[in-house]
Amino acid sequence: MLDIVGEEYPTPRRSTYLDTASVGLTPRSAVEHVRRAAELIYEDPANVGDAHKYARRVKEAFAELVGARPDDVAVVGGGTLEGIWKALQALGCGGGSVVTTDLEYTGLLSLLEHWANRCNLELRIVRHVGGKVPLDELERLVDEETRAVVVSSVQWVNGHRIDVGALGKAVQRKGAYLIVDGIQEAGAMRPELRHVDFYVAGTHKWLISPFGLALAYVGKRMVELAGPTGMNNVDVPMQLHKYLAFPHKGPRNLMASLPRDARRFDPPGMWPILALAGASASLEVLRRLGIGRIEGHVRRLASLLVEGLMDIGGVTVLGGSGESGIVTFSAGDNEELLRRLAARGIAVSLRGMSGLQGVRASTHIYNDEESVERLVDAVRDALKA
Ligand SMILES: Cc1ncc(COP(=O)(O)O)c(C=O)c1O
Repeated sequence: MLDIVGEEYPTPRRSTYLDTASVGLTPRSAVEHVRRAAELIYEDPANVGDAHKYARRVKEAFAELVGARPDDVAVVGGGTLEGIWKALQALGCGGGSVVTTDLEYTGLLSLLEHWANRCNLELRIVRHVGGKVPLDELERLVDEETRAVVVSSVQWVNGHRIDVGALGKAVQRKGAYLIVDGIQEAGAMRPELRHVDFYVAGTHKWLISPFGLALAYVGKRMVELAGPTGMNNVDVPMQLHKYLAFPHKGPRNLMASLPRDARRFDPPGMWPILALAGASASLEVLRRLGIGRIEGHVRRLASLLVEGLMDIGGVTVLGGSGESGIVTFSAGDNEELLRRLAARGIAVSLRGMSGLQGVRASTHIYNDEESVERLVDAVRDALKA
């Protein structure tokens, strides 16, 4: 098992919890941080200046995990979809189409449908082939009139991982923007950001944070699109408390200028302090382990799981095979299989989309070989019974 995991997750629950793709397990230090921040608010609520420190720490850790600079990272809301919506708002209306896939998370597809209707865009949807997104087909749907391509780097339903690097090159060649939903990747693997304009991840899954926060890498082209929306998105020429007291500012003379970085996407007003406090500790756990080591661990366990499942007659693995932390498998009556696994105390989910359905298992830092063996044994027993 990865070191420091034991002290952060002292309960045996971790060995049968294989459902990070739904919600990650919060480490003990994060709970402690939230508690301390809440006490600070109780004792000295005016001292919210600390929110900036939490935000800075969170941005630094996220930047390291995804391979970006802290200045390219923004706090974009309470969840992934809120962050995606912010990006779509920044893109505005104009352009002829938006391109996505039929495996995307339903909430993301709803947003895209809404945006397309509102802006009179054509919503183009590439169909999966056997649980994989055919990149050439996706690229074929992008033309000079395309406003944006919006996809998940790792698919929620079966763990299929898209080659975002190759896609990004093609999308940028056509002049469109690439927006990536990274919630099923960030914290488990290092993403490819080179040709990505906006990469967003809620922190409550693989980033193992308490709820209520989404972070984004914001590329240069995207920064240019966003205007100032509030106090956190502008630079003022003096310390904040002095600026607030300064009597010579006014509506036509706010003395505020636009930063040339991701801060333009930060919350316009108050920070989500408790969520930031928790995430600062959670991301520190991941940062200390190192994203390279985490990725090796996560994918090795996922591959072991695929191997174990393939040995059982009647089980089909859908899509990915160790390319991410998600393994989805089908074995006839999946609902009954889920019930039997739950009866053995194993936490997994049943997920379906565009003709695929299976039991979805995910392997993260608190899982080990024993977690995988338990699941494989339980599936074998369930299918024998
Ligand atoms: C791929 C994907 N995108 C988005 C979401 C929703 O994210 P949030 O609740 O952070 O908006 C999920 C949740 O399951 C997901 O799997």
